[in-house]
Amino acid sequence: MTYKEEYSSSISNPKTYWKNQADKINWIKKPESILSESSGEYSQWYTDGIINTCDLCLDQQVKEGRGDQIALIYDSPVTQTIKKLTYKELLDQVSFFAGALKNIGLNKGDLVIIYMPMIPETMVAMLACARLGAVHSVVFGGFAATELASRIDDAKPKFILTATCGIEGKKIIDYMHIINEALEKSNHQPEQSIIFERDQLKLNNIGPRQIKWIDVLNQGENVPCTPLSSNDPLYILYTSGTTGKPKGVVRDNGGHAVALKFSMEKIYNIKAGEVFWAASDVGWVVGHSYIVYAPLIMGCTTILFEGKPIGTPDAGTFWRIIAEHKVNIFFTAPTAFRAIKKEDPQGSLKENYDCSSLRAIYLAGERTDPATYTWLNELSKLPVVDHWWQTESGYPMIANPYGIEPQPFKAGSASLPVPGFDIQILDEDGVEKKPNEQGAVVIRLPLPPGCLLTIHNNPEYFNKCYLEKYPGYYLSGDGGYKDEDGYIFIMGRMDDIINIAGHRLSTGEMEEIVASHPAVAECAVVGTKCELKGEVPIVLAVLKNGQEITQSDLSKELKIKIREGIGPIATIKSVSIVNQLPKTRSGKILRNVIRSIANKEKFKIPPTILDSAAIEEAEVALSLIDEK
Ligand code: COA
Ligand code: AMP
Repeated sequence: MTYKEEYSSSISNPKTYWKNQADKINWIKKPESILSESSGEYSQWYTDGIINTCDLCLDQQVKEGRGDQIALIYDSPVTQTIKKLTYKELLDQVSFFAGALKNIGLNKGDLVIIYMPMIPETMVAMLACARLGAVHSVVFGGFAATELASRIDDAKPKFILTATCGIEGKKIIDYMHIINEALEKSNHQPEQSIIFERDQLKLNNIGPRQIKWIDVLNQGENVPCTPLSSNDPLYILYTSGTTGKPKGVVRDNGGHAVALKFSMEKIYNIKAGEVFWAASDVGWVVGHSYIVYAPLIMGCTTILFEGKPIGTPDAGTFWRIIAEHKVNIFFTAPTAFRAIKKEDPQGSLKENYDCSSLRAIYLAGERTDPATYTWLNELSKLPVVDHWWQTESGYPMIANPYGIEPQPFKAGSASLPVPGFDIQILDEDGVEKKPNEQGAVVIRLPLPPGCLLTIHNNPEYFNKCYLEKYPGYYLSGDGGYKDEDGYIFIMGRMDDIINIAGHRLSTGEMEEIVASHPAVAECAVVGTKCELKGEVPIVLAVLKNGQEITQSDLSKELKIKIREGIGPIATIKSVSIVNQLPKTRSGKILRNVIRSIANKEKFKIPPTILDSAAIEEAEVALSLIDEK
C-alpha cells in the first residue's frame, strides 16, 4: 500500500485500520470493541481488551524464542560500565522485583513515583510496576525538590523508588537530599521510599519510611503478570502545562502497546532482533516510549545511555555507541547534535568508528533547524528524519512514513501526518487555513489509540486544555502551516511553553517564581532563540517602589530561585530591570512583542499599546543582553 492509501484508510475507516494493528500484538483477551464513543466525543479504544504491557515486553518475547537475545544494553561512560541483559535475564529481574514490591504491599492501581537515574534498575522498576498493574510516574532527575513535591502531592504515590544519586558528567547529584527536601515540602507522605544504593554514593543512614532496595529484593519471588483492562493506566507522566501546576498525562495499556508497535513498524522501520537507540532520558516521554516500551514490545535490543552527547568523554560518544552496539536506528533531540557540531564541526570523531549498521537518524523534541539537518545529513549520509510529537500523544503524529513508503524531504518540515492523525490548521474562529497560512495545529477527533486518556485527577482541565477551544478537535498548542503538498511545518508553541535543550518548560511557572522575589513588582519571562539549546528564557522585571537591588544581584538571586524552584535545566539567560513592561491598555503583557525584540525580529506595535515608551525601554534593555 502507498502512504496515501494507508493514510486515507486510517482516516476513513479507523475501526478497521486499528483492529488490524491491534491484531499484531498478543492480548490476554482480544478486544471486541475497537472504538467506543460512549464516553462523549473523546473516544476510547479497545475498552474490553485484556492485556499486560510487561507481558508483551518480556514474557511474550521469551516465549517467541528471544530469551537469549540481548534486550537491554546499559552503556554508561560516566561510570565506565557496559552491561548487557538478555530478555530472559531482564524478565527474571523484573518478575522477581515485582514479587518483592507485591510482598511489601504494592497492588494493582497503586501509584509509584520513580525518581531515578539512567540505570537498568529504573527500567526494571517501570516494568515491575507494569507487571503488577501499579501505575508508575517517572520524574526527570533534572527537576528540583519543589517540582518533585508538586508531583508527589498530585500523584499521591504509595511508594517512591529512588537511588542514592544521579551522575551528570563529573557531578554526583545527591538524590536523597532532593527526595528528603521534596518530602518536607509535600503534604502527601508515601508509605515507603525504596532506595537503590549506587557505588558512587553510599547510604549513610536510613530514615523512617525508607528501605534499601536490596532489602526489598530479599523479599522477592517471581510473580506472573496481572491481567489488566486495556484502559487501566500504565503510567502518568507529568509535563509542563500553561499553568504553574504540572499536568499528569495518563497513558493506557492496550492502545499504547498497539500504537508503539505500529510506530516501530511504520515510522522507524525496524524489526525484531535489531538494535534501537533513543538517546533521551526515561524521565521524558521519548524515554518511556522508545527506550523502554516500544523496543521491547517489538523484540529489539534497546540501549540505556547514562551520559551526554559531549563531555562523556567527548563529542564522539554517540558514534562510539552506534559502532560498538551496531545500532540500526538512532533517535535523539536536535540540541544534542548541535552540541556535537559545536565541539566537532567537521565530524572528524566519527571517522574513528564504523557506523555502517545505522540506517537512519530520527530527531524530535523541537524543530530540526535546516543547518543541523544539513550538517548531519552530509556527515552521516543517512536519512535524517524530523518528526513531531508530544508527551500527550506518546508517539509521532507527523513523520516521514519510512516503514510505509519514504517520502521526499522538505527542510523545516516534519513531513506528513502519521496514519490515524487527521491534522488540520485552523484560524481563531475554527475555519481551516489555506495552504501556507499559519494557524493552530489541531487534530480532528477521534485521536488514534495510545494518546492520553485524560489528565490525572483533573478531567475538567483535560477538557479545557485540549478539547474546549475547537469542539471536535484536539488542540496541540503548537502553531504551524501545511503547504500545498500537505507537508506540515511546526513553527512553535502558541502558549507559554518553551523548549530548553529538549526539555519542555513553562515560562508561566518561571514568572510565578520571579514574581515571588520580594523586590519584584511584576515580570515577564519569554523564550528567546539559542543556537545550542533551541530556546532560553529571558526575564524583564519591574521592581517594587523603594527597592534598590542591582540588576546583577537580582539576576544572581533569580537564577538560584529558578534552579531551586524548577531545576537546573531551567537555566535563564538574563534578567533586565525595567520601569514598565510593554502592555496593552487592558493590562495584557505583550509577550510576543518582547520575544520579537529579544530575537531581533520585526514586530508591529499594537494599536492598543498602553505606553510605547515601554517598548523603547525593552529594546534598550534587551539589546544589552548579548554584550554582557
Ligand atoms: N539530573 C540532574 N541535573 C541535570 C539533569 C539530570 N538528569 N539533566 C540536566 N541537569 C543539569 C545539568 O547538570 C546542568 O546543571 P549545571 O547548570 O549545574 O551545570 C543543567 O541541568 C542544564 O543541563 P542541560 O540542559 O543538559 O545543559 P548542558 O549545557 O549541560 O548540556 C546539551 C546541553 C545539549 C548537551 C544537553 O542539554 C542535552 O544532551 N540535551 C538533550 C536532551 C534530550 O535528550 N532531551 C530529550 C528529548 S528527545
Ligand atoms: P514534549 O511533550 O516534551 O515532547 O514536547 C512537545 C512539544 O515539543 C511540541 O508541542 C512541540 O512544541 C515541540 N516539538 C516536538 N517535536 C517537534 C518537532 N519535530 N518539530 C517542532 N516542534 C516539536
